[in-house]
Amino acid sequence: MNHLFAYQIYPMCSRAREEREARKLGTAMAHSKINISLVFSLIATFSFLAAADVASSGGGEWVLLHRSVGISAMHMQILHNNKVVIFDRTDFGVSNISLPAGKPCRRNDAVLKRDCSAHSLLYDPASNTYRPLTVHTNVWCSSGAVHPDGTLVQTGGYSTGEKKIRLFSPAVASVPSSGDDRSDWKELPEDLLVRRWYASNHILPDGRVVVVGGRRQFNYEFFPKTPSSSALYDLQFLNETNDPREENNLYPFLHLLPDGNLFVFANRRSISLDYINNRIVREFPVISGDKRNYPSTGSSVLLPLKGRFPAAEVLVCGGAPNLSFTKAHRMKIYVEASNTCGRLRVTDSDPQWVMEKMPMGRVMGDMILLPSGDVLIINGASNGTAGWENAVRPVLNPVLYRPTESDPTKRFAVMNASTIPRLYHSTAILLPDGRILVGGSNPHVKYNFTAPYPTDLSLEAFFPRYMAPQYSDLRPWILYVGARGRIVSYGQRFSVAFKVANYRSDQETTVSMIAPPFATHSFSMNQRMIYLDFMGGVRKVPAGYKVKVIAPATRNVAPPGYYMMFVVHGGIPGECVWIKVNH
Ligand SMILES: *[C@@H]1O[C@H](CO)[C@@H](O)[C@H](O)[C@H]1NC(C)=O
Ligand SMILES: *[C@@H]1O[C@H](CO)[C@@H](O)[C@H](O)[C@H]1NC(C)=O
Ligand SMILES: *[C@@H]1O[C@H](CO)[C@@H](O)[C@H](O)[C@H]1NC(C)=O
Ligand SMILES: *[C@@H]1O[C@H](CO)[C@@H](O)[C@H](O)[C@H]1NC(C)=O
Ligand SMILES: *[C@@H]1O[C@H](CO)[C@@H](O)[C@H](O)[C@H]1NC(C)=O
Ligand SMILES: *[C@@H]1O[C@H](CO)[C@@H](O)[C@H](O)[C@H]1NC(C)=O
Repeated sequence: MNHLFAYQIYPMCSRAREEREARKLGTAMAHSKINISLVFSLIATFSFLAAADVASSGGGEWVLLHRSVGISAMHMQILHNNKVVIFDRTDFGVSNISLPAGKPCRRNDAVLKRDCSAHSLLYDPASNTYRPLTVHTNVWCSSGAVHPDGTLVQTGGYSTGEKKIRLFSPAVASVPSSGDDRSDWKELPEDLLVRRWYASNHILPDGRVVVVGGRRQFNYEFFPKTPSSSALYDLQFLNETNDPREENNLYPFLHLLPDGNLFVFANRRSISLDYINNRIVREFPVISGDKRNYPSTGSSVLLPLKGRFPAAEVLVCGGAPNLSFTKAHRMKIYVEASNTCGRLRVTDSDPQWVMEKMPMGRVMGDMILLPSGDVLIINGASNGTAGWENAVRPVLNPVLYRPTESDPTKRFAVMNASTIPRLYHSTAILLPDGRILVGGSNPHVKYNFTAPYPTDLSLEAFFPRYMAPQYSDLRPWILYVGARGRIVSYGQRFSVAFKVANYRSDQETTVSMIAPPFATHSFSMNQRMIYLDFMGGVRKVPAGYKVKVIAPATRNVAPPGYYMMFVVHGGIPGECVWIKVNH
């Protein structure tokens, strides 16, 4: 199979390469296809180079994609057509982008009698273009998960939207970017049982979504309802972890464990929850040090799963000491953020938190699983907490955490800094080509473009070091997936063929799947990464290399749905292809 054919089968983001080339040449003139915002971004990147932080050794590059997309990226979700749904909220003023043509203005706003601006959009990373979408009710501080059929199920919000369930179904055109994609939000007639503001969601092995907590909600429920699961389930753990006045338990961290139970982390405590029988299976030790959940917002990931019966390790990083919110909110005293991470091997018989020290403290950091198996910690601040104007001293340098590095002193690396503060209501997600899409930041009650740390409407891309041109000879290119329609079932064996210029060894080759998370408030719901086992070694074939892999064994390891599948060689990932694990 030749390269051109492969490109037609998997037309992924070629934009990243174009941008890199442009920067290499140092002139935008040679690239008439590159739009104006990119030209500005090139200038911004170059002027920043002079002032680059010499203390950073982890590399990485920043590119400004748009100075303004018109809304502030408070919530982001990538879908399997490679488009990103972005939204902020409907009750904080007029955004800088109009509703789609023909859509009526909204009238149910607390701030404005009439709002004809859009508060959601669909961003296409490949073309770096976007179009407005229509949300009907308030989606502020809501939550979401992608259904196994690829539809985003978004739940809750505030006021008019607090019980709403909304769907966004990605259009899948046979010819990508054909321009006739008219998909938009749809609100369901049925409601959640209770209001959900600052709740967390997780996709379940049976394809349902569990919606957990939210402000003053010490319970959970499911979507869709079934005759046996139409109720509201009490979870006093969320009451017990609710600090007086401060809370520090909102947007609980949820991770689906390989035994099918749900890991729930709130404040400093965590449990394994049998959500079917509404029973706490076990409680884990209390993490040491600071508070970890909103508004003392840290973040958390489930480290990559490996093997047929994988061990499960949870990593929690950042947060803020007790009473930080009260001090920031009432006295404008911004306490230094937590500089610790805790790592818990949940599947051990006697799990204990192992604490590690980050190179710098961070509150409101996003944690992202990279295809390389490392964890990126990005965005946030050095002092204060989440909430209105509660944080100062943005942390502009992302940090890389290498979970498999045996020397603990070498696990962290500081990466090159951005120039744009990303404080409260900012987000970051992994794109199919390996870049990180970064946006948002609005620590103000309304859109405010004059305050310190103004409302930010920009989108940036962070290129981790693995995208640097010097690694191009190691970068794999997926040619072919030996599964009909790129749909696989549990335990299925299928082949993956790829090209790489400089093949090193089987040991340096991995194939993995990453679930597309719903990112908001520094937590990426449903984020998980699964390494696929190999059957035998990597074989040389005429077009490149081929390896037979085994799909995840159970739906507890990988709930059904779409995943980004990456081949990584010598630590360098290529662009993903989407595969679907069948329901
Ligand atoms: C990023 O950091 C590396 C050092 O780690 C430096 O050599 C490089 O020039 C930086 N690149 C940019 C774009 O800032
Ligand atoms: C958004 O629009 C307002 C005017 O309505 C303008 O003052 C502001 O600069 C714009 N912000 C951005 C980031 O484009
Ligand atoms: C939370 O816990 C307190 C103390 O046990 C109890 O009085 C209260 O009823 C609980 N609230 C809810 C909503 O369950
Ligand atoms: C947080 O501080 C308050 C007020 O000093 C105190 O009552 C409470 O016990 C502290 N909580 C923790 C977990 O340290
Ligand atoms: C941040 O926290 C440190 C340590 O508590 C403190 O010395 C510093 O003044 C704080 N910075 C700001 C801007 O509040
Ligand atoms: C923006 O914030 C500044 C500083 O806090 C404040 O003085 C101003 O009134 C705010 N503007 C709007 C439109 O809310």
